[in-house]
Amino acid sequence: MSTPSSALSIWANNVSPSPTLAVDAKAKAMKAAGEDVCGFGAGEPDFDTPDFIKEACIQALKEGKTKYIPAPGLPALREAVAQKHIQENKIQGLEASQVVISPGGKYSCYLAILATCSPGDEVIIPAPYWVSYPEMVKLAGAEPRVVFAGDDTGFKITPEQLQEAISPKTKVLMLNSPSNPTGAVYTSEELEALAQVALKNDLWIFTDEIYEYLLYDGAKHCSIASLSEEIAQRTITINGFSKAYSMTGWRLGTLVAPAALAKAVSSLQSHTTSNATTFAQYGALAALEQKDKAAKAIENMRTVFDQRRALLFEGLSRISGLECFKSQGAFYLFPKINNYGLSSTDFAAQLLEQQKVAVVPGIAFGADDYIRLSYATSEETITKGLNRLKQFCETLN
Ligand SMILES: Cc1ncc(COP(=O)(O)O)c(C=O)c1O
Repeated sequence: MSTPSSALSIWANNVSPSPTLAVDAKAKAMKAAGEDVCGFGAGEPDFDTPDFIKEACIQALKEGKTKYIPAPGLPALREAVAQKHIQENKIQGLEASQVVISPGGKYSCYLAILATCSPGDEVIIPAPYWVSYPEMVKLAGAEPRVVFAGDDTGFKITPEQLQEAISPKTKVLMLNSPSNPTGAVYTSEELEALAQVALKNDLWIFTDEIYEYLLYDGAKHCSIASLSEEIAQRTITINGFSKAYSMTGWRLGTLVAPAALAKAVSSLQSHTTSNATTFAQYGALAALEQKDKAAKAIENMRTVFDQRRALLFEGLSRISGLECFKSQGAFYLFPKINNYGLSSTDFAAQLLEQQKVAVVPGIAFGADDYIRLSYATSEETITKGLNRLKQFCETLN
């Protein structure tokens, strides 16, 4: 038996596998085969989920909270997420009906794009971007319009760059602060300036704030939807539990949007996944309700990340030929490698091959002059990996 001649759809043919997951999988496979790999590829905190969150989930399971619930989520969790965005993020007047709980922030992002983009629409994606954004835009039949911002502007686009990239087909501006992969954090003034361009050109603003708590050197997070009611009316705020509470495997993301958009997202979700896992949502509810415990767990994790960031940054700065911008958020550094005359793919492949150090090539994020290193790993791995990276770079110099 053979497969049909036009076996795959345009969606399947258009999409590439996630390179960050691929690097992580390769490093894990090498480790499993007994090789001494230093992995800087991970996109997840290397901490366990706090016990009080796990206990709430276990309790829910014991109480038989194992059935379907409404597609947009547990009513109490939607309410808690609305309150969180009012109190912490200063987005005024939100109601639970404006919140959708999805199986992961990644799916929240995808539904936001599906709900706003039709085939032929254009979406402005500042680069370096999170790997999945352009693929999600293409899966909606829309066109990514990439606007590059290098380390010379702190990896942040300017209102002028944004204005220049806008065409009559532009529908959405995608923002991600703190950023994966660069760790860049937009200030409220910078966001205000970008929002004014979005308002003038009648765009949706998509803002992915999943790393909001992981900030260093006094950086402050600002939610663009907090800047005015007018801006909130065109903003979709994505967040989730993966990075803040070390809950990557729980698969829980949040979306906050004007009511009509949230309703459309809920309908899309109802036909594609139904609700995110019921008992997991009770764990998330505990994370939002037991604020003191949650704040303590987050601060412990943030402090450790900050120490590792200093260690990694200092080590990278000592490697001749490598240039590293000291970014203020998330758990990544994004050094420039173009002095060595290799593409980021070749650099990463040779580094893994020769020194058993796993990093993600910048090309995955639309920035071939860079590599991404995650410091969601132990100080021991960072120190060992830095020595190996230094040796590798010396052979290229
Ligand atoms: C920028 C960004 N947004 C969203 C996500 C999605 O996270 P999750 O689907 O685990 O909630 C990630 C995960 O790596 C991310 O880096």
